[in-house]
Amino acid sequence: MPSLGDATRGRILFGGDYNPEQWPEETWAEDMRLMEDAGVTSVTVGVFSWARLEPRPGVRDFGWLDRLMDLLHAHGVGAVLATPTASPPPWMGARHPGTLPRDEDGRTLWWGSRQQFCASSPVYRAYAAAVTEDLAARYAGHPALTMWHVNNEYCTHCWCDETARHFRRWLTARYGTVDALNEAWGTAFWAQRYDGWDEVIPPRRAPYLRNPAHLLDFRRFTSDALLECFRAERDIVARHTPHIPVTTNFMPFWQGQDAWAWAAEEDVVSVDVYPDPQDPLGGQYNALIADMTRSQAGGGPWMVMEQAAGAVNWRPVNRPKPPGLNRLLSLQAVARGADAVCYFQWRQSRQGAEKFHSAMLPHAGEHARGFREVRRIGAELALLGPEVAGTRVAADVAVLHDWHAWWGAEQEGRPSREVAYPEVVRAWHRALWEAGHTTAFAHPEHDLSGYRMVVAPQLYLLTDAAVENLVAYAEGGGTLVCGFWTGVADGDDRVRPGGMDGRLRALLGIGTLHEWWPLAPGGTVACDGFTGTLWSEELEAGDARVVAAYRDGDLAGLPAVLRRGRAWYVSTLPDPEGLRALLGRAAAEAGARPVLDGLPAGVEAVRRGGLLFVLNHGREPVEVAVPGAYRDVLAQAPVVDGVLALERYEVAVLREAGAGRDGAEGDGRHGDRPGRDGRSPRDGRADVAGAER
Ligand code: GAL
Repeated sequence: MPSLGDATRGRILFGGDYNPEQWPEETWAEDMRLMEDAGVTSVTVGVFSWARLEPRPGVRDFGWLDRLMDLLHAHGVGAVLATPTASPPPWMGARHPGTLPRDEDGRTLWWGSRQQFCASSPVYRAYAAAVTEDLAARYAGHPALTMWHVNNEYCTHCWCDETARHFRRWLTARYGTVDALNEAWGTAFWAQRYDGWDEVIPPRRAPYLRNPAHLLDFRRFTSDALLECFRAERDIVARHTPHIPVTTNFMPFWQGQDAWAWAAEEDVVSVDVYPDPQDPLGGQYNALIADMTRSQAGGGPWMVMEQAAGAVNWRPVNRPKPPGLNRLLSLQAVARGADAVCYFQWRQSRQGAEKFHSAMLPHAGEHARGFREVRRIGAELALLGPEVAGTRVAADVAVLHDWHAWWGAEQEGRPSREVAYPEVVRAWHRALWEAGHTTAFAHPEHDLSGYRMVVAPQLYLLTDAAVENLVAYAEGGGTLVCGFWTGVADGDDRVRPGGMDGRLRALLGIGTLHEWWPLAPGGTVACDGFTGTLWSEELEAGDARVVAAYRDGDLAGLPAVLRRGRAWYVSTLPDPEGLRALLGRAAAEAGARPVLDGLPAGVEAVRRGGLLFVLNHGREPVEVAVPGAYRDVLAQAPVVDGVLALERYEVAVLREAGAGRDGAEGDGRHGDRPGRDGRSPRDGRADVAGAER
């Protein structure tokens, strides 16, 4: 199976989406000159080129792309060639209205933007397959081709009649009979019983709360329907070029796609990530997306397919990245395992809906401050490539995340709409990030034995297999910390007897879970040592020890945090400092160590490939103690007296003095990670997450 390494060949790819069809061909020559200047090694072409490649049904215009591919090759720039199927040409909707998606009110989404296709439409699929076939046949042998990029950010949803038929086929495969579907969906409630398959429709607009199991299955179906589209195109390109890796770019931590399932179908896992430059925790968000994507890639290298060099154009107010932030976030991605740092897009458009979105080469041209920073990043990545490309990142703490749990948790009639699953996950990841731990993400059914500590911020829905996996992990000596509203429902969204799975309650030492007590909007509850937010629970401890109790409100005196041995339950969302202290304590007991002790606030440290990356996300200069003798490979200077001075947004990439480029201490390349049995020389728990997929 081809991999990212086949495209990188020991380098870190650097480049971005390139849309030369928006420009006269004279501009292409300037693009080549400036790409070379900036150290661009890879561009993604053809993402939105369908109307250019197929101006009318069945007609092909490849001439411009032939010239472009030749030009890229002549300048040593690799092409990540996209199938153009994310944006069908207007003729398709005009001739075949059935290819257009409909929303849950039955309204058509028209052409004039992008992504106006229904994943279930056989006509769309046939045209998509045909253009993909011809594209793959034409460029299979082209020397510029390094990777296939299928479609773009698969994200359409559709509620049309064709989708209804497809949904029924999916449900028939899942349940076999309508009776089984009725049972799984609990349709005895509100007279929802289906008497035949023809009555089952996508969950369209309805008078009141809809059936949550129906909504959950529709999310599962939609992810699977889009995945079928991906697979169809992947199989076509792979047939022509079995040696060329295939990817599709994920939106980051996005609800519409079960990215664990998708990642397993890709050769390269790639993501588009756009932290808000205004967000003081943008660096933590970038870290989270990196950890999640790397984990989807099985712990190995992954790809930033898109980021912004400066401002985006889709927030209410779009501020550019201040000097240094683009570089900081790019090097952070590399520190956390990326072997490709790419952007949307190379040259800023002059027309169209994204002309105010930044690019590597902005309107101001090659003398722009942003382009200077891009050039610097290109040069530094060229330097780091031979040291880190292909290496892995060690993580001994895992955060559990599952799309199905998210889908279940965010149903319409839930206890609190104040609780947003991604925010809860982000809060837990933040606590670990601030405590200096490098984290991986894992699915609750993955092999967890390689981690010293596993946290489940919120897994509302857990299958039996997942529950058993968590119990086995904790009983096998792992430290498990569960957040509120975990283990509530089974895989069909049926509430477990007692309101929480009995096996989990036994593991955590919880006697009775009397009630969930979500907090009023903005409300807090005092607890021993911290302030709780969002949620509280009326719990009775069984054989657990009470670590912290509620101190005010209706639950005063009742347990807030419980532990039974190495299994912890946190029944509220502690404030950031409180959660950091709690998880820091559990991690320390589990033997998980921060990368560096005593990091100043806002400073991140990560080890990759025998190098130590130290990144200052703060807006003020800091001094960081780095015990040992180090040399900064970017600044090409030694660290004096074990103290590293970092300006705002500054990054140091340190190599231990005396360590050869090949890393005498072992560089973590694929070959030297512990085996899947997770044995480490110390005590049987692996340092390197080898069990992420
Ligand atoms: C992504 C998309 C790109 C571009 C970018 C702007 O979602 O894949 O084509 O639109 O956003 O931020």
